[in-house]
Formats: sequence, structure tokens, C-alpha cells
Amino acid sequence: MIINNIIRNKQLIFSRFITFGILTLFLLISVYSFSQNTNDENNFQQCRACHTIGSGKLVGPDLKGVTDRRDEAWLISFIQNSQKLIQSGNEQAVKIFNENNRIPMPPHNLTDDQVRGIIKYIANGGKLGADQAKVAPNEDTEVKIAEDTAHLIVETKRDEQENMRWVLFVMVILLLVSIVDLAKTKILKAKWIHYIVIITSLFIISEIIFVEATSLGRQQYYQPDQPVWFSHKVHAGQNQIDCKYCHFTVEKSMHAGIPPVSVCMNCHSQVKKGTRTGTKEISKIYDAIKNNEPIAWVKVYNLPDHVYFNHAQHVNVGQIDCIRCHGDVAKMDQIIEVPELSMGWCISCHRTEKVHFESNKFYDQYTELHKKLKDGEMPGVTVQNIGGDECAKCHY
Ligand code: HEC
Ligand code: HEC
Ligand code: HEC
Ligand code: HEC
Ligand code: HEC
Ligand code: HEC
Repeated sequence: MIINNIIRNKQLIFSRFITFGILTLFLLISVYSFSQNTNDENNFQQCRACHTIGSGKLVGPDLKGVTDRRDEAWLISFIQNSQKLIQSGNEQAVKIFNENNRIPMPPHNLTDDQVRGIIKYIANGGKLGADQAKVAPNEDTEVKIAEDTAHLIVETKRDEQENMRWVLFVMVILLLVSIVDLAKTKILKAKWIHYIVIITSLFIISEIIFVEATSLGRQQYYQPDQPVWFSHKVHAGQNQIDCKYCHFTVEKSMHAGIPPVSVCMNCHSQVKKGTRTGTKEISKIYDAIKNNEPIAWVKVYNLPDHVYFNHAQHVNVGQIDCIRCHGDVAKMDQIIEVPELSMGWCISCHRTEKVHFESNKFYDQYTELHKKLKDGEMPGVTVQNIGGDECAKCHY
């Protein structure tokens, strides 16, 4: 049991580390994005995937001079939600939409003031004006440190799994060699050495098998190679494309879904070359279109068939950020499965996570809980309180 204990303890410490790491990261990032609000340059980051200021058309039109072409009110409503304006029949909006092959510009969750800041930034030709000072650069480094730590933990953990496989391999060899020597070749005369080697290796092998078996079928830290070098860091990170632009069913349905190539083409009909991979990877998108074949992405997150998990319930109703379950995807070149996807993982969140009880009409049916909440008998209502640990909720 010694090894088992060591491994278990390590697992415990590591999972605490990871939870802690992810939580800090989450906190730091919320602080970070808060301070970003006043930083117009950073807000413009999410437009760079599709627009330049003075360097020509990308997916959308060159924004140079747009502040002279359009008035501020129009710009604010267009940037916040262009489709709404287009659907309302606004003439200018419909015209620019048609001129751009009817590629929809995603809505942006920005306040009027944030858009005004961006407009100022555009009017300045992509430079900050005197009144648009940069804020809080030091938080940048904090995020970086937390991010590096989380990354390091994931790497260490993977190395550990690798090591365990090596230990298993070596032990099996040792076992075989001593059995063969004991029974046949008889090179070593002292038989007790054989016995000790056999017993310890058997012991260690069974320990490792036990540990592996209890997590059988789970693939924490699974990171398969994908058919196209698609980087979330490039898209969701550097170009700040909203997760929901590609995983567009995540708020409405059970599945987040993987975007079809037509979504890639919204941008890659224009963006034909990448900084790191040139045309090599992007051309696979054109091949897929030409051959009328979807890209065969390898699924990273896999729950067994007997488990029911619903994204809309968590993302939309529960308002849980993607980062809590998938790690900081926007920093990953390649997706890696961060949580363990065990039953314990789901339940431990359900025990502590509070639901948005007061603001959600659906929960009006729980009159008893509402009463207790009002009387101060409960500090808040957790998922467990509304039945989040009942077997039938998660199992078919
Ligand atoms: C996914 C690509 C994409 C992103 C990201 C994007 N846009 Fe656009 N944008 C477009 C397209 C395409 C159009 C052309 C109009 C249309 O098709 O709806 C457009 C049009 C515009 C226009 C109107 C231009 C004109 O000549 O009237 C403005 C202004 C604009 N975008 C600003 C922004 C700002 C600011 C951001 C970032 C907050 C942003 N866009 C992010 C694709 C994008
Ligand atoms: C409460 C945890 C949780 C949250 C929050 C969450 N996911 Fe997931 N996600 C999962 C689990 C569990 C799976 C595996 C589902 C399966 O195999 O059926 C998954 C699978 C996926 C997949 C693979 C395709 C699919 O639908 O199975 C994508 C893509 C994805 N999530 C994206 C997102 C995005 C984007 C967000 C945020 C908007 C998000 N997820 C929020 C837990 C979560
Ligand atoms: C909203 C616009 C947008 C969408 C949608 C989009 N991309 Fe991109 N993609 C970009 C931009 C911008 C770059 C960065 C080009 C560069 O490196 O300068 C890029 C780069 C790439 C690269 C090259 C990365 C490098 O650095 O070499 C690949 C490969 C790629 N995208 C694949 C895809 C695939 C596959 C999809 C669909 C699942 C997709 N993209 C969807 C905007 C987009
Ligand atoms: C430009 C489109 C695009 C954007 C933006 C995007 N994704 Fe993805 N996502 C993909 C594609 C394509 C895949 C499949 C390839 C892969 O796994 O890398 C994928 C895969 C995933 C997976 C793994 C699904 C699985 O089980 O195989 C998760 C989790 C995920 N995305 C979460 C996110 C989150 C969170 C964000 C926002 C921070 C985001 N994505 C933004 C296109 C996108
Ligand atoms: C990070 C926290 C978190 C994790 C991890 C998580 N959930 Fe949840 N889950 C929630 C929240 C919050 C709700 C309540 C949403 C609402 O308000 O209805 C919920 C609700 C549910 C419900 C509906 C319960 C009910 O009473 O209607 C099911 C089913 C469910 N989750 C399944 C899962 C499964 C399966 C997993 C693991 C694969 C999982 N959840 C992981 C936070 C989480
Ligand atoms: C919040 C969601 C959730 C609830 C509630 C839940 N389970 Fe599970 N259960 C899971 C997930 C996720 C797995 C898959 C774990 C894995 O693959 O390791 C699982 C796996 C299992 C397994 C397969 C054994 C294993 O570890 O893979 C059994 C048996 C099981 N659950 C029974 C139950 C029973 C009995 C209850 C009620 C007391 C229950 N579950 C409640 C999410 C849940």
C-alpha cells in the first residue's frame, strides 16, 4: 500500500493544486478583464481577427475612416449587435452586410462607453490617444505566472503518468528475468534474491494496476493530435474570437458542438496564411470544402454513454464559465483534458456550487427552499439542494 498511498497522496495534492491553480487563474482573469474594460487597445484585440485600421480589407472592411463615414450612435449599435440592426432593416447596415458577402459580424458584449473607447482608438488610426492611458500592466505578469503554474502542474502530472508506465514496464521485465533465471538459466546462485525481486515486482505491478483500474476509461490530460493544427491560442486568445462564435450551440443545446468548415471559411476565405504554419494547415480547410468532407476532429472530452451532461444547463442556466470545466482554453495551442471527468468531479461541484435561485423563474416551484432562504436557515441553495446528486439526473 505504500506506493498506492504515495500515488494517492500525490493525486490528492495535485488535484488540490489544480483546483487552486484554476481558481486563482479564474480570479486573476476576472480582475484582468475588469481592468481591460478601460483599455481600449485591448478591447480592439477582438476585432483584429477580421479588421485592420488602414492595412486593407480582411474579413470585414478596413476600419480606417469609418468614424467619418458613420455617426457614433450607428457605430455603437452596429458593433454591439450588427445582426439586430440589419434585421431591423437599417439601410446602411443592410448595404454593408450585402457588400461583404453576407458574412455576419458576431455580436460584442461591450458597453456603450467601451465602444466609444474603441471608436476613439480607430479614429486615432490604431494608437491610443493622450486621454486613453494604458492601465495596470503588472496584472499581465500575474496572469502569466498563474498560467505558467497551471501549465506546469498539468505537465508534471502527465510526466508522472508516463513515469508510472515506465516503472510498470521495468518491473515486468525484472519479474520475467528472475523467473527465467530461477527456473532455467540459474545464473544467480542465491535463490533468495529471486524471491525478493519476484515478490516486490509483483507487489508493485499489482499496485499500479489497481491505481490504473480505478480510473479505467478516464483520460485526464488526454491530448490527441488533430488532423489540422488548429490553435485555440491563436483564435480565442490572440484574436479573441468568442467561444460561442464557433461553438454556437453551447447555450441552447446539450452539445457545444465542433464548428463545421463553413464557419472556418467565414474568415479563411480571406485569411489564407498563418504566422506559424503558413499555408500548410489552412489549405486543409480548402481541401475539406473541395472534397465535401468534414474535418475528422478527434474528440478530447468523452463521457461514458450512460451519463447525461447538458451544456445549456450549465452555461446558460447555471452561468458556469467554460474555464471552470475546460481550463484556460484560450491559452492552449492544443486542447488538453483538464478535469478528471469522474463522477466525483461532477458531484463535488454540485455540493458547493450555488444556483441562481432568486433570479430564475423556473425555481419558483421550490417554495420550501425559498422560505428557508428568506428565514436565513440556509446561506444559499446549492445544486445538490435542487436534486443535483440524484442518480437519475445524470444517468440514463
Ligand atoms: C468574425 C469577424 C468580425 C469580427 C470579430 C468583427 N467584425 Fe466588424 N465586421 C465584420 C464584417 C464581415 C463586416 C461587414 C458587415 C457585415 O457583414 O455585417 C463588419 C463591419 C464592421 C463595421 C462597419 C464598417 C463600415 O464600413 O461601415 C464596423 C464599424 C465594425 N465592423 C467594427 C468592428 C469592431 C469594433 C469589432 C470588434 C469589437 C468588430 N467589428 C469585430 C466582421 C467582423
Ligand atoms: C460544468 C462543466 C462544463 C462547462 C461549464 C462547459 N463544458 Fe464543455 N464539456 C463538458 C463535458 C463534461 C464535456 C463532455 C461531454 C460528453 O462527452 O458528452 C464537454 C464537451 C465539450 C465539447 C466537445 C463537444 C461536445 O459538445 O461534446 C466542446 C466543444 C465544449 N465542451 C465546449 C465548451 C464551451 C465553449 C463552454 C463554455 C461556453 C463549455 N464547454 C462549458 C463540461 C463543461
Ligand atoms: C473569426 C475568424 C476566424 C475563424 C472563424 C477561423 N479562423 Fe483560423 N485564423 C484566423 C486568424 C485571424 C488567423 C491568424 C493568421 C495569422 O497567423 O496571422 C487564423 C489562423 C489559422 C491557422 C494558422 C495558424 C498559424 O499560426 O499558422 C489555422 C490552421 C486556422 N486558422 C484554422 C482554422 C480552422 C480549422 C477554423 C474552423 C474551425 C478556423 N481557423 C476558423 C481567423 C479565423
Ligand atoms: C475559431 C473557432 C473556435 C473558437 C473561437 C473556439 N473553438 Fe473550441 N474548438 C474548435 C475546433 C475546430 C475544435 C476541434 C479541434 C480541437 O479539439 O482542437 C474545438 C475543440 C474544443 C474543445 C474540445 C472538444 C472535444 O472534446 O474534442 C473544447 C473544450 C473547446 N473547443 C472549448 C473552447 C472554448 C472554451 C473556447 C473559447 C475560449 C473555444 N473553444 C473557442 C473551434 C473553436
Ligand atoms: C463547476 C461546477 C459543475 C460541474 C463540474 C458540473 N456541474 Fe452539473 N450543474 C452545475 C450547476 C450550477 C447546475 C445548476 C444549473 C441550474 O441552475 O439549473 C448543474 C446542474 C446539473 C444537472 C441538472 C440537475 C437538476 O437538478 O436539474 C445535471 C443533470 C448535471 N448538472 C450534470 C452534471 C454532470 C454529469 C457533470 C459531470 C460530467 C456535472 N454536472 C458537472 C454545476 C456543475
Ligand atoms: C452529477 C452527476 C452524477 C450523479 C448525480 C450520479 N452520477 Fe454516477 N457517474 C457520473 C459520471 C460522470 C460517471 C462516469 C465516471 C467515469 O467515467 O469515471 C458516473 C459513473 C457511474 C457508475 C459507473 C462506475 C464508474 O465509476 O465508472 C456507476 C455505477 C454510477 N455512476 C452510479 C451512480 C449512482 C448509484 C448514483 C446515485 C447515488 C449516481 N451514479 C449519481 C455522474 C453522476
